[in-house]
Amino acid sequence: STLGASAAERGGRYFGAAVAAGRLGDPTYSAILDREFNSVTAENEMKWDATEPSPNSFSYGRGDQIVNRALSRGMKVRGHALLWHAQMPGWAQGLSGSALRSAALNHVTKVATYYRGKVYAWDVVNEAFADDGRGSRRDSSLQRTGNDWIEAAFRAARAADPNARLCYNDYNTDGVNAKSNAVYAMVRDFKARGVPIDCVGFQAHLGTSLPGDFQANLQRFADLGVDVQLTELDIQQGGNQAAMYGAVTRACLAVARCTGITVWGIRDTDSWRTGANPLLFDGNGNKKPAYTAVLDAL
Ligand code: XIL
Repeated sequence: STLGASAAERGGRYFGAAVAAGRLGDPTYSAILDREFNSVTAENEMKWDATEPSPNSFSYGRGDQIVNRALSRGMKVRGHALLWHAQMPGWAQGLSGSALRSAALNHVTKVATYYRGKVYAWDVVNEAFADDGRGSRRDSSLQRTGNDWIEAAFRAARAADPNARLCYNDYNTDGVNAKSNAVYAMVRDFKARGVPIDCVGFQAHLGTSLPGDFQANLQRFADLGVDVQLTELDIQQGGNQAAMYGAVTRACLAVARCTGITVWGIRDTDSWRTGANPLLFDGNGNKKPAYTAVLDAL
């Protein structure tokens, strides 16, 4: 079987990969993508700098390449990411205050409208919390427009695409810690006040150990009434990579509202984590023990 087909048999889940438009012409890469995965995330092509290179002027060519290719093969598309402090276009980096707020919400509205009906779930806001051990919001120009910038983004996204699942996405939130507690409090507050949020993405860029409370952490978010997804999974090679991949997969399957897993690339040589060899296929496209561990778990 394959990752996507097996995940689909486990309660209609998906198993996805981050895809780079520039690699689609590599036949080894595209063959693995088409054989194994039933969801894609554009690695960079749907970010703010790629989609709105100048104010209110949009560029969807490379994103469309990934999205239309995936949809024509029956794959899901996760949209990544509407607002993020990184990979903002230069012109938006030069804005602050109400000008930035308006530009950001216009971006959310325009991009979510363009992709309406094509995107299964959007990372509406990415990485808005700090790693200070106190659960603070990350200091950024977006945050300085006012603490309500996140809910404003979710409301704009819902209005633009009422059928997409709207996610908050972050890293270092994989176990119970100050940062995940802060995200948890935000999601609980959004649910209590009717701010539209449907899912939480856990990037799961992991080192050589898995937090002991990984599954419990996913479950507590699911218990708030949102789906949870592992959105950018990659695991450092050097510890027991295969065992960790198996454990992560089983944790998702054990949480009814964990609806899918996305790995952040296909072959180790495609990974953004140079030297970590953190993926399921080696540089020649061969299945690693980590692949077998995931397939066995599914
Ligand atoms: C990374 C891409 O993989 C790189 O190609 C790019 O240079 C930087 O961004 N968290 C995220 C992703 O949400 O968008 C990031 O992707 C990895 C960390």
